[in-house]
Amino acid sequence: MNILVTGGAGYIGSHTLIELYKAGHTAVVVDNLSNSNPESLRRVAEIIGIPEIPFYKVDIRDREGLERIFAEHRFDACIHFAGLKAVGESVEKPWEYYENNIGGTLTLVDVMRRHGCKNIIFSSSATVYGDPVEIPITESCPKGQCTNPYGWTKSMLEQVLMDIQKADPEWNVVLLRYFNPVGAHPSGRIGENPNGIPNNLMPYITQVAVGKRKELGVFGNDYPTPDGTGVRDYIHVCDLAAAHVCALQAICRHCGIGIYNIGTGHGYSVLDMVKAFIRVNGVDVPYSIKPRRAGDIATCYCNPAKAKAELGWEAKYGIDDMVRDSWHWQSTNPEGY
Ligand code: NAD
Ligand code: UFG
Repeated sequence: MNILVTGGAGYIGSHTLIELYKAGHTAVVVDNLSNSNPESLRRVAEIIGIPEIPFYKVDIRDREGLERIFAEHRFDACIHFAGLKAVGESVEKPWEYYENNIGGTLTLVDVMRRHGCKNIIFSSSATVYGDPVEIPITESCPKGQCTNPYGWTKSMLEQVLMDIQKADPEWNVVLLRYFNPVGAHPSGRIGENPNGIPNNLMPYITQVAVGKRKELGVFGNDYPTPDGTGVRDYIHVCDLAAAHVCALQAICRHCGIGIYNIGTGHGYSVLDMVKAFIRVNGVDVPYSIKPRRAGDIATCYCNPAKAKAELGWEAKYGIDDMVRDSWHWQSTNPEGY
């Protein structure tokens, strides 16, 4: 299939391009580079062994820009990663988040349907469950109150896409609810490249390990979890990338709406991750306990059985692979791209 990949220069998008080409698909990337570097695409092409990945530096809110791309290519489906994703920033700049994520998706979907491309895989998030009423979380767990505008953009866009599919059954909409993506391609050539101070645990750990930051702050050790620190379902980004290729099969089967948790089903605490990182990589990660971070929940991990049963997808990488590949990327690219 020929796939439009929005946000393809970013962390998850770049890894997904590799899985797409490995599976025999082709892709065209649209990205405004607001949170990425085109060097990622050059390296993706190098890993795949092709001269270049077709790329348009276009904002998905730019209707004319998207029209030009659709005039030049025929797409079987869109994998839609483009969006702003910093939780804290979304609290300070809610308008920017709603306008970019929701406005951008509405424009994208309108241009898609005008060109007869009615298949979309959307990057959703475990954040739509809010403080989940069941653990492990299945897809039938009700959605909850999001604690920030970023989370609401995901929750609202799920609803928008489902409503569009209901009104026009020619659409196939796959909502992938990612748990916590970490790791990097085993080559060490591409990985997560956050701007400024990382918000997320793993890039913070790797930046402490490489000497860019003094110590990790562990946000709370008084949660009702085995060691008191927050528990999450960390998933290797290459496993996550592969889930998108499996999701294309659901589209081929004309699934209508498909909603899937994409995680490993295992919960690891902050200290589990820090200890695994030190053990596997043999580098120190100084840390100290800090107060809880506002909006955090104690425990979040999923039951990924539906994705296995219906998409034939399951995670292959474990915690040791995650911490090893995160470090391989960071230690060989201390300044990112
Ligand atoms: P990322 O920031 O690395 O990638 C997103 C890409 O979208 C960037 O390259 C950015 O430049 C681009 N982009 C943003 N707004 C755009 C616009 N208006 N037009 C064109 N391009 C635009 O983020 P990521 O970690 O790869 O996340 C990909 C998707 O997955 C996002 O939608 C994110 O919300 C979602 N997600 C991420 C996580 C996570 O922890 N990384 C968890 C759940 C869901
Ligand atoms: N943590 C620390 N110190 C840090 C950073 C994080 O102790 O410096 C802890 C957090 O308190 C939490 C765990 O590490 O217990 C994971 O935190 P992350 O910020 O890495 O991830 P979150 O689970 O908070 O959120 C992530 C994404 C969201 C997404 C959510 C669910 O950032 O975009 O997963 O998919 F919505």
